[in-house]
Amino acid sequence: MILSSFLRIGAVVLVLLGNSLGALRSFSIDYKNDCFRKDGEEFRYISGSIHYSRIPRVYWKDRLLKMYMAGLNTIQTYVPWNFHEPSPSQYIFNGDRDLEHFLQLAQDIGLLVILRPGPYVCAEWDMGGLPAWLLMKKDIVLRSLDPDYIAAVDTWMGKLLPMMKPFLYQNGGPIISVQVENEYGSYFTCDYNYMRHLSKLFRGHLGEEAVLFTTDGAGLGYLKCGSIQGLYATVDFGPGGNVSAAFAAQRHVEPRGPLVNSEFYAGWLDHWGSHHSTVSTAVLAKSLNEILALSANVNLYMFIGGTNFGYWNGANNPYAPQPTSYDYDAPLTEAGDLTDKYFAIREVIKMYRKIPDGPIPPSTPKYAYGAVKMTKVQTVMSALEILSFSGPVKSIHPMSFIELNQAFGFVLYRTKLPVNCSSPTPLSSPLNGVHDRAYVSVDGVPMGVLERDKVLTINITGSSGGQVDLLVENMGRINYGRGMNDFKGLVSNLTLGKDVLSGWTMYSLNIDEAVSKGLIQQTKVPGSSQPTSFSLPAFYRGSFLIPDGIPNLPQDTYVQFPGWIKGQVWINGVNLGRYWPSRGPQVTLFVPASVLSTADPNNVTVLELEASPCTTGPCVVEFTKTPILNATVSSAHCQRLFLRGG
Ligand SMILES: *[C@@H]1O[C@H](CO)[C@@H](O)[C@H](O)[C@H]1NC(C)=O
Ligand SMILES: *[C@@H]1O[C@H](CO)[C@@H](O)[C@H](O)[C@H]1NC(C)=O
Ligand SMILES: *[C@@H]1O[C@H](CO)[C@@H](O)[C@H](O)[C@H]1NC(C)=O
Ligand SMILES: *[C@@H]1O[C@H](CO)[C@@H](O)[C@H](O)[C@H]1NC(C)=O
Ligand SMILES: *[C@@H]1O[C@H](CO)[C@@H](O)[C@H](O)[C@H]1NC(C)=O
Ligand SMILES: *[C@@H]1O[C@H](CO)[C@@H](O)[C@H](O)[C@H]1NC(C)=O
Repeated sequence: MILSSFLRIGAVVLVLLGNSLGALRSFSIDYKNDCFRKDGEEFRYISGSIHYSRIPRVYWKDRLLKMYMAGLNTIQTYVPWNFHEPSPSQYIFNGDRDLEHFLQLAQDIGLLVILRPGPYVCAEWDMGGLPAWLLMKKDIVLRSLDPDYIAAVDTWMGKLLPMMKPFLYQNGGPIISVQVENEYGSYFTCDYNYMRHLSKLFRGHLGEEAVLFTTDGAGLGYLKCGSIQGLYATVDFGPGGNVSAAFAAQRHVEPRGPLVNSEFYAGWLDHWGSHHSTVSTAVLAKSLNEILALSANVNLYMFIGGTNFGYWNGANNPYAPQPTSYDYDAPLTEAGDLTDKYFAIREVIKMYRKIPDGPIPPSTPKYAYGAVKMTKVQTVMSALEILSFSGPVKSIHPMSFIELNQAFGFVLYRTKLPVNCSSPTPLSSPLNGVHDRAYVSVDGVPMGVLERDKVLTINITGSSGGQVDLLVENMGRINYGRGMNDFKGLVSNLTLGKDVLSGWTMYSLNIDEAVSKGLIQQTKVPGSSQPTSFSLPAFYRGSFLIPDGIPNLPQDTYVQFPGWIKGQVWINGVNLGRYWPSRGPQVTLFVPASVLSTADPNNVTVLELEASPCTTGPCVVEFTKTPILNATVSSAHCQRLFLRGG
């Protein structure tokens, strides 16, 4: 360690000499004076995390400006690989995925950027940002030197990093530092050669001058496998603890150089079925003050959390998926609104640096469009031809999503009852292989729900030859720790009584495409008028107009689902995410104004998986002004162990 520090001090001196000669932009680590140096001057960053993948593009500027006005001089973002490479060598970098535009906006506003390109990012994001197609190799060892994993990483980084190079500070851009991997010391593989490979890969693409770093929990156990020579080791820790003791862990591996907390937890994540997490503003402000008083660098994680639109949420292990909102109890809310926490942080920062003058952009106004009547249009089973673009696949034993070449959403598994089940007969997943929820029916009669880790058996009835349908939902892949090889669908055999069920027909469903093309139309829905505790998974539609004569509409809003149980919602074809008010704690989903239209009726499509309120009461969804993320949750589902976040 000491030798390596000497070598690095040498490198810094060379950079400084080069700088004083060329007077160009430079950013480097000054080991001698325990700080960063920007253009030769001592520099300390006060940063906040924002994930462009969780915020509609039209709002990027507003959120960045609010961060700038809080007194931050830097932002930090992850680059989720699976957001940009949905299938091998198919890259998306436009619209809401236009990373270059995001970086340019940050720079135009006056913010520096800390880039965290992974390849693994955690982030409570599906599979920690790793693309699900990596699992096409069944026994792939993720985050290791596994040759197939490395080949995919090299290709991806060969695309991403050259794109990022012009955005490095020394090349005229905003990026001052780049993180390699993420909390690698918390992962079981502990493969130093993997980290060395990444280090070389990043260096090769970004050049010798780029400041590369790692982040790990502030404990020697984490730092042991996470830090390697050549990458500056930083730590992460939340408020309320002993700040000097936490930085002492960093000092153990980096005896000299700037103190850095790369993830200072301004809030915390949620899980379906667990209480909403909050972090006290007073405790946060006190610890922030202590960090800044030590001249340390800090990144507040999150400064704005945003939303897991579509199917992007991840899950912790034992299986606990995160909800649609990633509000995080952050200083800016999910919708970008200013909070007391925002102003408290600004007051602390003010004591350490001059913060910008001028007005802070106000919270965006919200509008309550009210109740929208919904009508049942079609069950999933009756819409199979529309939803299943590739036609069914047949196999003796069930195949997983990835074997069916599907990453997200839903697959319908169908087979026949091999025997008469005139009395209730247990349908079981003895190996806990329903990933993650199966909505079960026999001959069109709903039977119940199987759920990973929670409900491994239900009783069904029906006669021999009857059609068994399981609509299986992927609720998000594990994003942290072991278990990231998280196959979806029916990943082990089901039994009926003593028999193993076989002879499956599987329908991959592209529901998003069908919804956005308006293909799900009203049909005659057969029978099922008597209320049962479950009904068949079905689509409901409604529409609403933006009212006339009110200025500045459309505005942001929230949608809630009174009496509905669980499902997915689209507005004008945009998948806004999952709702599950019956489990909580999230009740309302954020609806950005950018998905709404003033010219046409706004089309709401709901896929209700369990039971709608429509046979027994008002059949509406409701647009309100006020978010509810902290409803009490049913104690049957209350958990929870301590889980690391970020
Ligand atoms: C915090 O940790 C430091 C260094 O480990 C120690 O010297 C100090 O006493 C601790 N402070 C408190 C209040 O526990
Ligand atoms: C199943 O039950 C029906 C009547 O309920 C009977 O006609 C049929 O033979 C039975 N099938 C088998 C395989 O036992
Ligand atoms: C299934 O039915 C049997 C017999 O009625 C009952 O003993 C058992 O508890 C039921 N199992 C479940 C999971 O409902
Ligand atoms: C189902 O069981 C068969 C026979 O035991 C086995 O070959 C197959 O791998 C199993 N399938 C799954 C998905 O577990
Ligand atoms: C809603 O759907 C109708 C057709 O059902 C279509 O005419 C209208 O343009 C759609 N609205 C939007 C905003 O796309
Ligand atoms: C939820 O949060 C709101 C606003 O912060 C608060 O007024 C309310 O008491 C909270 N409800 C619960 C159940 O914690």
